[in-house]
Amino acid sequence: MNYRHIYHAGNFADIFKHLVFRMVLDYVQQKEKGAFVLDAFAGVGLYDLSSDQAQRTLEYEGGIAAFMQTAFSNADLGAFQDLVRKDFSLKLYAGSPVLAANMLRPQDRLIANELHPEDLIDLRVNLKTYKNASVTHQDAYEVIRANIPPKERRGIILVDPPFEKKDEFQLLVQQMAEWKKRWETGCYILWYPIKANALTQVDDLYAEAAALKINRTWVSEFMIRDRETPEGLNGCGLLIFNTPFQIPERVEALTPELTGSLGGSVRSFYL
Ligand SMILES: C[S@@+](CC[C@H](N)C(=O)[O-])C[C@H]1O[C@@H](n2cnc3c(N)ncnc32)[C@H](O)[C@@H]1O
Repeated sequence: MNYRHIYHAGNFADIFKHLVFRMVLDYVQQKEKGAFVLDAFAGVGLYDLSSDQAQRTLEYEGGIAAFMQTAFSNADLGAFQDLVRKDFSLKLYAGSPVLAANMLRPQDRLIANELHPEDLIDLRVNLKTYKNASVTHQDAYEVIRANIPPKERRGIILVDPPFEKKDEFQLLVQQMAEWKKRWETGCYILWYPIKANALTQVDDLYAEAAALKINRTWVSEFMIRDRETPEGLNGCGLLIFNTPFQIPERVEALTPELTGSLGGSVRSFYL
């Protein structure tokens, strides 16, 4: 396990993932009943943008730093700025479990899971003041299996692997069929990288996800460079099962201002 998210915290891909994650949770919370959030690959939860690691890559400059300098009129972009503003003023960037924890109502519940032993310690510290949040130390796919369907019946499973393993895409595909058997109506958000050397795997992911025939299976991709650019992360995608109503329309509505701030382009489609 070599992957450390601190090198990438707050980059364009984090912004896109967290922006949509916030919108989905916000939608689920329109109902009074409690919601369940499982962050299966949680990371540490809070990233120090002034740390040596973040300063080495400066990836956050083209992400959260640019984003926070922009005045948006779109409500979802503004709401995301409001959610991260306090941490950003302290040169911190909140990862997915802390973002979710900050949004929890008393009736909601979060499980944040992390396998890396050092990251786990930081995650526990960063979530300790949140009563409805608990931390687990398991393999992500085991923790998902153990917790679906949740007792709340409404919830979000965030699946954000580091893609260190060559077969991570295949692993995801195998798991998706399992999830369908256990909890077909759950909202699953899967993040994936778009790199020139793994475009076939992305196409296979679409095909396998489509074959499952889960309701409202929707993909949204944020590209900052051409898909075929040989080196590096050209973009990222979110594959969502049971995509809540309004999310595709809301992502379309925020796209001009998002790409105006960070550059790039967004394309979205149902599978
Ligand atoms: C991309 S980062 C997560 C970022 C986080 N979701 C966020 O948006 O702030 C992936 C995390 O998964 C952890 N990880 C890697 N393999 C894992 C596994 N099999 N089960 C659980 N966590 C794992 C890594 O240590 C890393 O912290």
